[in-house]
Amino acid sequence: MKAAINRQFRLAVRPVGNIKQSNFEYREEPIPSPSDGEVLVRNVYLSLDPTNRIWMSDMPQYMPPVEIGQVMRGVVLGVVEESKNPNFQTGDLVSGLLGWQDYALALGNSGLDITRLPQPLPCPLTAFLGPLGATGCTAYFGLLEIGQPKAGETVVVSAAAGAVGSIAGQIAKIKGCRVVGITGSDEKCRWLLEELGFDAAINYKTADLETALAQSCPNGIDVYFDNVGGSILDAVLTKINLHARIPLCGLIATYNATSPVPGPSNYSQILMKRVRVEGFIILDYLPRWSEAINDIAQWLNQGKIKYALEIVEGLENAPSAILKLFDGNKKGKLVVKVSESPTI
Ligand SMILES: NC(=O)c1ccc[n+]([C@@H]2O[C@H](COP(=O)([O-])OP(=O)(O)OC[C@H]3O[C@@H](n4cnc5c(N)ncnc54)[C@H](OP(=O)(O)O)[C@@H]3O)[C@@H](O)[C@H]2O)c1
Repeated sequence: MKAAINRQFRLAVRPVGNIKQSNFEYREEPIPSPSDGEVLVRNVYLSLDPTNRIWMSDMPQYMPPVEIGQVMRGVVLGVVEESKNPNFQTGDLVSGLLGWQDYALALGNSGLDITRLPQPLPCPLTAFLGPLGATGCTAYFGLLEIGQPKAGETVVVSAAAGAVGSIAGQIAKIKGCRVVGITGSDEKCRWLLEELGFDAAINYKTADLETALAQSCPNGIDVYFDNVGGSILDAVLTKINLHARIPLCGLIATYNATSPVPGPSNYSQILMKRVRVEGFIILDYLPRWSEAINDIAQWLNQGKIKYALEIVEGLENAPSAILKLFDGNKKGKLVVKVSESPTI
């Protein structure tokens, strides 16, 4: 059902430290009407991602930061409500950077692009924000292209019970590796071990990390899928093997920093062990996403990959829900349900 207004969250003030509600301005606007070439999309699911924190800042980054006063940028799954574009019809399911709002104009002069999802859907709609979306592609290309894991090697994943980490670890298992996950609670450790088939799991909030890594990785570490940076990277470097690979996926331990973050204090090990560290941004792999999606869809069907979703009800809760990415109070992929899904 169509809401009478378009609720929006706009960026009001750039955060210093943790994100606060006051960083956003809540607005109610009329629902826009599409002009020729445009479509009106009703947002159904909004993805909350650590990169939202980067976009809110004005640090040098891989996309332009969100401007003060702009609708907060966010990946959305939605349904076309009205189309003045011959390539899209009412009812089409689409994804795009449609933002923290109930409705968005896309295509034409709107400046926003959309991609149509397959119909009928081969899986629940939300999977397109998880394993069959950017999340799954990030895990796939980061691990396989940059990590180059070989059967029998030891792969360590940080933020392992999160959206990307949980998929990366399972792909490493499929490739025959010993997989060790690092995460922030005993309950998440149990999930990694009992549901996802990790070989070992470490609660970095309670364990002595260097000791725990030595116990869990008796043959050292060949691939470190780094979602975090900071002190976890330093601990991993103490156990890193000759010619190891480190796909640098994210640095969530540093996104809320209020002063410059020093580099790893065990940086010397990258030289001594001839380690290859490579940062990557998943958008660079866009032309190849279908490779990842085809493989991951097959692994999902075969039950070799499982995923969890934390669904927060209501757009109004987006500014508080995003904190779950930083306090770790969720498992798997974090999404906000903005409106009713037309299908599953
Ligand atoms: N390069 C790319 O193209 C790309 C694409 C997508 C995501 N990423 C990056 O990948 C990483 C994971 O993203 P995601 O979407 O999958 O998020 P996520 O893992 O689902 O959520 C973030 C998790 O990070 C952990 N965390 C938060 N602060 C931490 C800290 N100070 N130290 C250690 N762990 C901390 C929390 O779990 P715990 O309970 O384990 O602490 C939290 O659940 C992020 O760094 C993100 O920026 C990169």
